[in-house]
Amino acid sequence: MDLTQCAGAWALVTGASSGIGREFCVQLAAAKMNLVMVARREALLEELAAELTAGHGIETRVIAADLALEDSAGKIQSRLARDGIQIRLLCNNAAAGRWGRFEQTEAEAYCEMIRLNTCAVVTLCHRMLPALSSHPSSAIINVSSPAAYQPVPYMAVYAASKAFVHSFSQALYGEWRARGVRVQTLVPGPTDTEFDAKAGAYDSALKGRAAPADVVRVALQQLGQDQPVVAAAKGLFKQRFFAGLFPPRTVIEQVGRMFRPPEGR
Ligand SMILES: NC(=O)c1ccc[n+]([C@@H]2O[C@H](COP(=O)([O-])OP(=O)(O)OC[C@H]3O[C@@H](n4cnc5c(N)ncnc54)[C@H](OP(=O)(O)O)[C@@H]3O)[C@@H](O)[C@H]2O)c1
Repeated sequence: MDLTQCAGAWALVTGASSGIGREFCVQLAAAKMNLVMVARREALLEELAAELTAGHGIETRVIAADLALEDSAGKIQSRLARDGIQIRLLCNNAAAGRWGRFEQTEAEAYCEMIRLNTCAVVTLCHRMLPALSSHPSSAIINVSSPAAYQPVPYMAVYAASKAFVHSFSQALYGEWRARGVRVQTLVPGPTDTEFDAKAGAYDSALKGRAAPADVVRVALQQLGQDQPVVAAAKGLFKQRFFAGLFPPRTVIEQVGRMFRPPEGR
């Protein structure tokens, strides 16, 4: 999909209230795409929508929704139908994580994370594909993570949820490539957003974080290319190589060492 041909078409971005999702909105608005912005913090969405409408003369819709709830995608679809909006770019970006020992987070919190990180992605793809395929070219960006490349002790559920997204999204690429819907699996490296603080991050071997603007620039630049997976950070191939070729015990030990919580946590 060529973004320069998409002025006036609609993009739907989940997790639009902060971080990478917010930056998707900023750069898509600069490309003159109209925006449907989804997240829970309505005030932040309204503020961004007003700024982008005034700055770029685009149309926006704000949908305050908790995507961990089962019927959210249905409500989003009803709102789009009511407003006569046919989405041309779906960006499944919203997600949450949790750092720390597995047993220290409630099981229900993990289930909520799984619903947000995986079920919402599947459901939105499923519901939006009829609209997406009504255009001559269209796209889905599903945001994955380097955590998808191998199990991550002390971030077990988040990493597993991203492994799901990584596999699902590439399979969808295979099914839809010949039918005009490009499915991109985006792998940001560590990025400077609210994500880690909200996930209860502690000091770890993970150092250096990219700006969300750089991640989104790479994703949108690659949208016109036939790339199932877009790695938006240098050196990710080394991690993939390590995870794929070394014995599981070595990989799990090394990664576990990186994310082990400090004593007493
Ligand atoms: N930051 C990193 O280092 C990094 C690295 C690799 C991959 N990623 C991936 O990048 C994506 C974006 O994360 P980010 O770093 O930009 O994090 P972020 O700043 O925390 O943004 C997460 C977004 O998701 C929304 N969200 C969270 N829970 C939600 C819910 N239940 N329903 C609806 N929206 C919800 C949040 O909005 P509300 O709170 O307003 O709902 C927010 O807009 C995620 O898929 C993440 O896994 C991040």
